[in-house]
Amino acid sequence: MPTIDPHHPAKRAWDALVLATTVFAAVEVPLRLALGYPVEGWLLDVDWVITAIFAFDIVFTFNTALRQAGSLITDRRVLARRYLERWFWVDLLATVPFDVALGAALWPGAAEALRLLRLLRVLRLARVAQLMRRWSGSRLINPSALRMAVFFFWVVLVAHWMACMWLALGGISADLDPVTRYVRSLYWTVTTLTTVGYGDITPSTNVQVIFTMVAEVLGVGFYGYIIGNVASLLANLDVAKAAHVERMGRIEAFLKYRGLPGALQERIRHYYDHIWEHRMGPYESDLVEDLPPALRAEVLLSLNQDVLRRVPLFTGASEGALRELSLALRPIVYTPGDEVIRLGEVGDAMFVVSRGRLVVKNAEGTTLALLTEGDFFGELALLQDRPRTATILATDYCHLYSLDRTSFHTVVEHFPALAARVADVAERRSQELSAPMPKAPKPEDA
Ligand code: CMP
Repeated sequence: MPTIDPHHPAKRAWDALVLATTVFAAVEVPLRLALGYPVEGWLLDVDWVITAIFAFDIVFTFNTALRQAGSLITDRRVLARRYLERWFWVDLLATVPFDVALGAALWPGAAEALRLLRLLRVLRLARVAQLMRRWSGSRLINPSALRMAVFFFWVVLVAHWMACMWLALGGISADLDPVTRYVRSLYWTVTTLTTVGYGDITPSTNVQVIFTMVAEVLGVGFYGYIIGNVASLLANLDVAKAAHVERMGRIEAFLKYRGLPGALQERIRHYYDHIWEHRMGPYESDLVEDLPPALRAEVLLSLNQDVLRRVPLFTGASEGALRELSLALRPIVYTPGDEVIRLGEVGDAMFVVSRGRLVVKNAEGTTLALLTEGDFFGELALLQDRPRTATILATDYCHLYSLDRTSFHTVVEHFPALAARVADVAERRSQELSAPMPKAPKPEDA
């Protein structure tokens, strides 16, 4: 029989069921002992179902493969040894209904006396901690959010246990109905944990006084932990946002310190807001640069896929061409009014427009053309080794990809089909540039 895959959806669903059952038992068993209600009827059925689930889980665990350092351990003997060395005993103690089993074997009514043994069920909660660790490794859940959820889970559970303990110590009058007794007891726990208590429910016996002191000290601990951690947990919930806020803080300080003109300051702020809104991380580039070349190519190919697919110049390009291009293309953002290219300058890159609009202007300032998503420009300087033939201005936020001279020549060399297309457009543009500017479009040209 093959072993169970620990990541199979069915196994995960089972784990979730066991987790829910464990939490239910950890809540219900102490309450049952504190309030002393009889376990009969549907509650008894539930009790047996829990025992069965725990027992099946032991069987399943013996048969579940283990993932370790990337490889799957499926050898049954190794699996059994590891389980027996670690969690098996905890699981076993939590599963066997000792009170019933021993009660039947000892004397009539022994089960009643041995009810406390049921608390062993709570032991299984230790497994919850193990599960949480596995989840935190799954990367699906934000680790800070998970830490916070786990912390609140334990606080609520501990408060519940303390309320049960207070009931068991006789802190609340036994004359009241069970629900009122529990609610009062929980109220006592919360007030004692968060402050030093309201004073309307006070300890009378020595044990109660000692327990109250323990609760108060625990409360101080919780409080300190919350104050110390929640602020940083909240800040870390969205790591990217935190990095952005931190960066904006530094930029604001710089702008104030250097006393830049107000309009320029505004442009800088807008630029960073735009970058943030469009999820174009200036934060990403360092991360990508750190990757080994093969992985970097994969990542860039996936990141740049959109633009590569949208640009007509690249449609139909081979996989190899796209891979080479994605390694060579560098994202760059221009803000409204920026000069991307200035006429007469030496050019060492061409650009592809991913989004935004730009205008091409000649020396007289006449608009020669409008460039939008999917267009490219700046190829003439690279192909014909001449100064820039026009000025290009961004009219709104433009997301461009630049291809430097060396990469451009490599791509042109390796992928002649692409080179031919660029050459075609370049040829047409050169002709337009050398042709005298028409005063007004003639009707037959339209
Ligand atoms: P380059 O000369 O490197 O820099 C200016 C760019 O403007 C040029 O390359 C072309 O890509 C582009 N360009 C020049 N004339 C036109 C035109 N008529 N239509 C579109 N783009 C042009």
